[in-house]
Amino acid sequence: MCGIVGYVGKESATPILVESLKRLEYRGYDSAGITVFNGSLETFKTVGKIADLEDILPEETIANVGIGHTRWATHGKPETRNAHPHMSSCISVVHNGIIENYLQIKEMLIGLGYIFESDTDTEVIAHLLNYKMQSETKRPDLLTAVRETIRELEGSYAIAALCSDEPECLVFARKDSPLVLGIGEDGYYAASDVTAFLKYTKDVVYIDDNEIGSIRPDCIEVFDLKGNLLTKETHTIEWDLEAAEKAGYEHFMLKEIHELYLTPEQIKHLRRATIIACGTSWNAGILGKYLFEKLTGIHTDIETASEFRYGNPVLCGEELTIAITQSGETADTLAAVRSSKSYGCRNIAITNVVGSTITRESDSVVYTRAGPEIGVAATKTFTAQLITLYMLAIHLGRARGVISAEEAKNLIVNIKRLPGQIQKILNRKEEIRECAEQFADMKDYFFIGRYLNFPIALEGALKLKEISYIHAEGYAAGELKHGPLALLTEETPVVAIATMGHTYDKILSNIKEVKARNSTVIAVANEDDTEIEKYVDVVLRIPPSHEMTSPVLSSVVLQLLAYYTALAKDCSIDKPRNLAKSVTVE
Ligand code: G6P
Repeated sequence: MCGIVGYVGKESATPILVESLKRLEYRGYDSAGITVFNGSLETFKTVGKIADLEDILPEETIANVGIGHTRWATHGKPETRNAHPHMSSCISVVHNGIIENYLQIKEMLIGLGYIFESDTDTEVIAHLLNYKMQSETKRPDLLTAVRETIRELEGSYAIAALCSDEPECLVFARKDSPLVLGIGEDGYYAASDVTAFLKYTKDVVYIDDNEIGSIRPDCIEVFDLKGNLLTKETHTIEWDLEAAEKAGYEHFMLKEIHELYLTPEQIKHLRRATIIACGTSWNAGILGKYLFEKLTGIHTDIETASEFRYGNPVLCGEELTIAITQSGETADTLAAVRSSKSYGCRNIAITNVVGSTITRESDSVVYTRAGPEIGVAATKTFTAQLITLYMLAIHLGRARGVISAEEAKNLIVNIKRLPGQIQKILNRKEEIRECAEQFADMKDYFFIGRYLNFPIALEGALKLKEISYIHAEGYAAGELKHGPLALLTEETPVVAIATMGHTYDKILSNIKEVKARNSTVIAVANEDDTEIEKYVDVVLRIPPSHEMTSPVLSSVVLQLLAYYTALAKDCSIDKPRNLAKSVTVE
């Protein structure tokens, strides 16, 4: 999973490519490179971040055409030779995706005498293109060569290619990896996501799967795979026209919940919902399942997208699917949604990114509107996903008559208290820092919780491992005795979410089980709980809160615990090793 960019226009291409790549760094940052046309194709690439690439670029270039790439290694280590663009004499290619049959193609090309410099799957695209352009009968142009090349590729790709024989032409193609074009006054842009070029233009053309095309100084053309010219709509991104868009609603969330395109009748007859997500979004989805079942009475499954897409889902088409994805671009989540839609299911997307692929493939969208999140480890967007799930469940629960107006109001009052309560936690973050520093040298951690706190335990463990590289496992507290207890020693801190609610006594029993094995227990508990300190070693406090909404508060505590642990260990907090914010490959 990587980010690609391209530019053809009147401006100097290099600074535009660099600026655009910086915006896409969230998609990968182990190496980067650009190719610009400066009389001939000139390629610069390096291991490291975009700032490292900048260091090796010439100060002035007059190139008006170029492509660029920020990489997150899938095939081949992060080394300069594996960084994109990949060249094959007159050709340069950048690629986001995975070519699944690259080994067969590579073998064939090696047989033809091509020499490979990298371990990547992408290099086969460059050489295959080169091979197509060497056709003895009629030398095809770059566009035709790309069309012939992608016919032979299996897997996913967003590609941008340049050829020194056609210096003013950039050819692009897409299948299962995002690609969007920008129409500016002084040039045209291509990128994996609109944020890359939003600084230059807000007019965009979304490229769909199995489309291919060219960008030249005076025009953009998009074709289907048969070569038919397509008429593509230009969309204007209006992210800042907030007030005008609210259409009389007090909040976007309320407006968007009303836009579910489900009639009251349909809502009443819903029998089953399936939540599909990956990573942190999946953890949010588990909380969503509990909320849905309690507040709406709808049987709700939670599915890991990468498993769902290759499983045998039993769907009749009347189920509601809810895809949770911060980026709106996670390849597995998109594939799982496509699969459920093939059964006729109606999909609601919960996402943070306006205009992302999921928003264009779903029947309705609820935006979390947490603002851009740059750190790879999701934090505020997780909180926003939880709140969105509460609101959605309350809305459906009311429409189905499962909860009363009074109950809904009470919950909303408690949700509205959350910002003030979170602020109180932030004010006490030094206590969390002390705790984190005390245990930063531990090799293993456990996080346990019950009911609504179970997904928070999973997320607490995920945060810690993502940014501090400590092995951490999240567990349903009742499951400890079915295996993990065997691993507990004095060197294994256990974080127990022990907030007030109907499982409080149960988690206290679990804490005692853990203490009997001499492990340290760090409890997350309410400020007004005077009982808990009798049983545990450290207490991290959250304000007194409702059982239903306290998980949001506990999750903030665990985010800070992970943060301060990573800080104590001097880890790369915003860009943890081996991870990327948006996983657009399988
Ligand atoms: C990556 C990110 C995680 C994120 C997951 C799902 O692994 O590093 O933070 O939770 O993808 O991403 P999505 O954008 O679909 O929520």
